Amino acid sequence: RYRDPNAEEKMNPFAEQEAWEEHQIGKATMKFGSKNKKQVSDDYQFVFEDQIDFIKASVMEGDKFDYEEMKDSHEKSQAKSAFEALQEERKRLPMYPYRDELLKAVHDHQVLVIVGETGSGKTTQIPQYLHEAGYTKRGMIACTQPRRVAAMSVAARVSQEMGVKLGHEVGYSIRFEDCTSEKTILKYMTDGMLLREFLGEPDLASYSVVMVDEAHERTLSTDILFGLVKDIARFRPDLKLLISSATLDAEKFSDYFDSAPIFKIPGRRYPVEINYTKAPEADYLDAAIVTSLQIHVTQPPGDILVFLTGQEEIETAEEILKHRTRGLGTKIAELIICPIYANLPTELQAKIFEPTPEGARKVVLATNIAETSLTIDGIKYVIDPGFCKMKSYNPRTGMESLLVTPISKASANQRAGRSGRTGPGKCFRLYTAYNFQNDLEDNTVPEIQRTNLANVVLTLKSLGIHDLLNFDFMDPPPAEALLKALELLFALSALNKLGELTKVGRRMAEFPLDPMLSKMIVASENYKCSDEIISIAAMLSVGNSIFYRPKDKQVHADNARMNFHTGNVGDHIALLKVYNSWKETNYSTQWCYENYIQVRSMKRARDIRDQLAGLLERVEIELTANSNDLDAIKKSITSGFFPHSARLQKNGSYRTVKHPQTVHIHPSGGLAQVLPRWVVYHELVLTTKEYMRQVTELKPDWLVEIAPHYYQLKDVEDSSSKKMPRGAGIAS
Ligand code: CDP
Ligand code: MG
Repeated sequence: RYRDPNAEEKMNPFAEQEAWEEHQIGKATMKFGSKNKKQVSDDYQFVFEDQIDFIKASVMEGDKFDYEEMKDSHEKSQAKSAFEALQEERKRLPMYPYRDELLKAVHDHQVLVIVGETGSGKTTQIPQYLHEAGYTKRGMIACTQPRRVAAMSVAARVSQEMGVKLGHEVGYSIRFEDCTSEKTILKYMTDGMLLREFLGEPDLASYSVVMVDEAHERTLSTDILFGLVKDIARFRPDLKLLISSATLDAEKFSDYFDSAPIFKIPGRRYPVEINYTKAPEADYLDAAIVTSLQIHVTQPPGDILVFLTGQEEIETAEEILKHRTRGLGTKIAELIICPIYANLPTELQAKIFEPTPEGARKVVLATNIAETSLTIDGIKYVIDPGFCKMKSYNPRTGMESLLVTPISKASANQRAGRSGRTGPGKCFRLYTAYNFQNDLEDNTVPEIQRTNLANVVLTLKSLGIHDLLNFDFMDPPPAEALLKALELLFALSALNKLGELTKVGRRMAEFPLDPMLSKMIVASENYKCSDEIISIAAMLSVGNSIFYRPKDKQVHADNARMNFHTGNVGDHIALLKVYNSWKETNYSTQWCYENYIQVRSMKRARDIRDQLAGLLERVEIELTANSNDLDAIKKSITSGFFPHSARLQKNGSYRTVKHPQTVHIHPSGGLAQVLPRWVVYHELVLTTKEYMRQVTELKPDWLVEIAPHYYQLKDVEDSSSKKMPRGAGIAS
């Protein structure tokens, strides 16, 4: 079993300790054995071959082209104005020579599959070409991205290239953040956002072109979009549809879109030397750090790209790298460490694209985001530990987890290719050639086949698509997962027995949230506490980045955090208290500092809350406050999260009520020392154990009262009730 250091995009106050805890135990090695963890001390020696043995395996032949000429023209352009330089740069992209040919193909065909290596200019250039050719006169051009960061950074880049202000002609739209205006003609957006736009505009009438970009990523939303855009293309002959992908499995896309022609952009790639380790690495994080430092000390100039699995791992690596380079002082050249992951604040994202100063070297610590969606110039060395974080779903229990999993061969080759974009590159795989050949799958399983489908099913139902089993999926999800989603939506009263959308379901679908969260909000109407509930929902949506816990002030930080837990109110209500206290100080930044709270996260929560308030109005739920009735608030939470209930065991662990499984209260939770008999939790995360995060106490009677179709009395009868009357120990 692989560890799950963090639920995606979330930070946990104990992240570092946990990361290290697991570090000691020994992390994911590729199933097939391990080497002893190497001891790393401060008087670290850079003996490359000694530390990690690499063997050179193969050399990929790059296409022929004139490297010197490119370099030369690049230098010349330095002198020109930034804008002119950008225009020159645009013309040097592999995409550029095919501009007219592409425009002709788009003119001649309604649907086109476009294939070109990462960095060829698909995402940034194609929408501009289409705009220059007049397509935006008939409507906007949408370009979807699987990742928020990609949508934002690409939009920023294109607005620079067009010399316009971001949010005007060129904008982006991601969940809870709409950076577009009346003027917008090129709209970069997450695939999930375009999916939601179908709810308001089922024929996408405001668009003249839809480009489903990064199609090879096969995210859940992209897969659903395929079915929907294929359908509208039939009755909207004026709509142009582009499916673009970085890998060569284009035939599959073409087949799906009724044999749409494939437009190939010839790659311009330099040879990449692939190195493998002689034996599997026991600790890939450590191996990655060691390798980075060794490249830095022993290899010619060129930046390094390291693929890690998530924010916490990246932060750990950043810290260790900083520590070790500091220890080496002026003995080595400057090493600029640039983290990049989905949750990285926008102002810090720009740093990775800044050119590296002369004499220094940049090391980019990235999640999978740098595999295809972002191109960073100047990368010459890639370090690939061979893992990524992947969602997996158990349709039987309905439990979803993010696990660190070996990547596929296709991913490994993508990663290697990132080093050969601007010159010959080197890739260091922290696994063996044997592992690569025999242990890695050829391709990644599409997300639709390994995820909870409740959200998508609710969206499809709201679009009037009822026959889900016969929906035109490129790869259908397991029938079991579809049924599970229907069951959950039925339990939440979003669907009736016939599988039709109910009024509750229609209201739920308006919220861009997981169905359980939307249900919690919709149910708050009954308990007259919608005001409190949307604050809680907003705080939960921000993730685990509310509290921060600096290393040297952990005790203070913990004390500050525990203040919000006075009365053992549970994590949800503690979050509400944080929000309300901040509001009472008139959203003071100073207050956040004093309480070890991340002001950026709070501002985001406020934004999200404002939007949720707007949506409440839209579904005609009054904003009512009921702050003194904590039971009402807890009942609303239970109305959405009753499938996530658990009961205390004698040994201090918990057992989930439906589909029994042993779980624990996360040590950072306010109730970790209290251990109430019955709890409802927001989510499960698997680190060293299966932990419940965001936990609130509940009364077992509520389960039967709120979800009589889901729980019977026997489910909630306390086995120890003979000794203790039911409800004892519950502070009410
Ligand atoms: O989509 P594709 O991978 O084919 O390429 P792209 O994202 O359009 O990138 C084309 C060029 O724009 C690359 O050379 C990138 O370095 C540059 N770019 C950038 O400088 N900043 C961004 N935020 C995005 C792209
Ligand atoms: Mg792209």
